[in-house]
Formats: sequence, structure tokens, C-alpha cells
Amino acid sequence: MPAEIFGEKYEFLPRPHILTFEEIERLARLFVAAGVSKIRVTGGEPLVRADLPELISKLSAIDGVDDLTLTTNGYLLAQHAAALKDAGLNRLTISLDSLDEEVFKKMSGRPQGPEKTLEGIRVASELGFSPIKINVVVQRGMNEHTLVDTARHFRGTGAIVRFIEFMDVGTRNGWELSKVVTASEILELIGAEFPIEPVSPNYRGEVASRYRYTDGEGEIGIISSVSVPFCGDCSRARLSTDGKLFTCLFASSGTDLKTPMRDGASDAELAEIIGRVWRKRDDRYSELRSKVTEFADAAGDRVEMYYIGG
Ligand SMILES: C[S@@+](CC[C@H](N)C(=O)[O-])C[C@H]1O[C@@H](n2cnc3c(N)ncnc32)[C@H](O)[C@@H]1O
Repeated sequence: MPAEIFGEKYEFLPRPHILTFEEIERLARLFVAAGVSKIRVTGGEPLVRADLPELISKLSAIDGVDDLTLTTNGYLLAQHAAALKDAGLNRLTISLDSLDEEVFKKMSGRPQGPEKTLEGIRVASELGFSPIKINVVVQRGMNEHTLVDTARHFRGTGAIVRFIEFMDVGTRNGWELSKVVTASEILELIGAEFPIEPVSPNYRGEVASRYRYTDGEGEIGIISSVSVPFCGDCSRARLSTDGKLFTCLFASSGTDLKTPMRDGASDAELAEIIGRVWRKRDDRYSELRSKVTEFADAAGDRVEMYYIGG
């Protein structure tokens, strides 16, 4: 979220525009009834939402949710981790692009270094969150020289570091193809320091390709969203804070569920809308993008990553 836009004076969406916990829970139940079994709470930054553990309790109580997880920048995690665990959160993914103070500041656009995120990871790990995943978005000329240090730091701790190719989501992150460090380059960098070998996926559609250290010190993941897109296996639906349903990270518009819900739609009517969107989804932006050599449409009217959550 660019600091020059989202500064101290920025007016975020007024409360009435965002879904209440009850509305989120109701929609979650409808998605689970339609076959969803994994829910990820993301953002924006989910830990800035007041009383978040209350939402986690509601979601974890839904029959059929096998996996409830949350993605956070970790800044406020140390203070909230225990309440989230008590509320029923199973797993955590924490974004940490570099352990290097200056690189971290540059990539987060904030004056703080990685200490608070590391503290959050430590507290979460002591509380028994497992496995903790660490997301590292890799940008050429920015943090690729710090990847091996990040891998080394988490080797043997049980945490799984996932290196993610820098994606052209939205229009404000200064994406250029030349800034993408490909999965094979990342593998080479890490493999040159620590011998690794591939491991089979945990399930079909798992976004990260898995590798384990041959000395048994754990595993890493590589997410090749740009060089080897995986649209064909994508089974994710995304619900924005203001109640829109998206079927692709690269979509330019979503389907409004909030308005019909607030206008009194029944569960069956809402389920019908969700089913209709899902049945006709055909977006496969990453695959189409990889077919062209010039990314002329890179500045289109797509939604931003901080709106749709990753
Ligand atoms: C958009 S964030 C939202 C959650 C939370 N605020 C955080 O920082 O983890 C979700 C994930 O998307 C990843 N991400 C953000 N921009 C990205 C990009 N351009 N390419 C690939 N991944 C990206 C982040 O690293 C993070 O792990």
C-alpha cells in the first residue's frame, strides 16, 4: 500500500461499507456448503481489524472448515497470537521479504526493520502454531541477495519459507518483467548453498512447489506464479472486505454479494449467485500473460493486491 496514498490522513472505507463479522460468517457458511474447506483470512492487514479473534471463533466453529489460516505482515502478531490461537486459528503465514534492515524498510515502505515481525514469529511458534509459513516476495535488484540468509535463518526451525515470484497484481507496485527472479533462478541460489530435492505436493492445486533440504533440516516452497502459471489448478474464491466475490487475483471487478445480502436475499438466493459466478469462471490471467512477450496491459484497471489479499 503506497505510503504516499495511504498516509496518516487517508480515509479508509467507512464501517458501514465493510462486511460485519456476522455477514462474513454467513457467507463463509454458504461457501462451505458449496464445497469450500479451507479459509484464509488476509488483507490488507488482518490484524488491524478490531476484535479479529471474534471472527476467527465464528469461522472455526463452522462444520466443514478443515483448515483456517491467516496471512499477516506480523507487525502486531506478538500481541494477538495467543487470542487467535484460543479462538481456533490453526495456521499462520507471515510475510517477511528480507531480514536485512534496509531491504526490509525499502520493501515495506515503513521506517521499521524486521524485529517486530521476527518477534511475532517467535511468539507464534512458542504457542504451537505449526507449520508457520514465511512468504518472501522476490524482486530483482531488491532482495535476491538476501534469500540465502532468510533460508539459513529458518532452516531447522520447522518454519517453511516460500519464495514467491514478484507478480504484476494491481497497478501500483512498479512491476516489470525484468524485476521477476524466476523460480529456477531462486532454486539455483538456494541449492548452491544448501542441497535440496523436490518433494511431491501435499494436494492438487498446491501453489508452492516443495523442496526439502537433503540433510533433513526442513523444507522450502517456491511459487512460480509468473514463469509457470498454475491457473488450471486454481480453486480459490476471494471475498473482499466490502463483500465482492473475485475468482482471480487479476480480476478488474467482482460480484457484489453485500448489496443482495443487505437487501434481504435468502441463503438460497445468495448460494445461487455464488454458484453462478463459480460455474462460469474462466479467468486464467497468468496463463494468458505468459503467452505474450510484451506486457502491454500491465497497467490496466485491475484490483490491487492489498484489496484482494494475495
Ligand atoms: C497482499 S498480502 C496481505 C496480507 C498481509 N498484509 C501480509 O503482508 O502478509 C498477502 C501476500 O501477498 C504477497 N504479495 C504481495 N504483493 C505481491 C506481489 N506483487 N507478488 C507476489 N506476492 C505478493 C505478500 O507477500 C503476502 O504474503
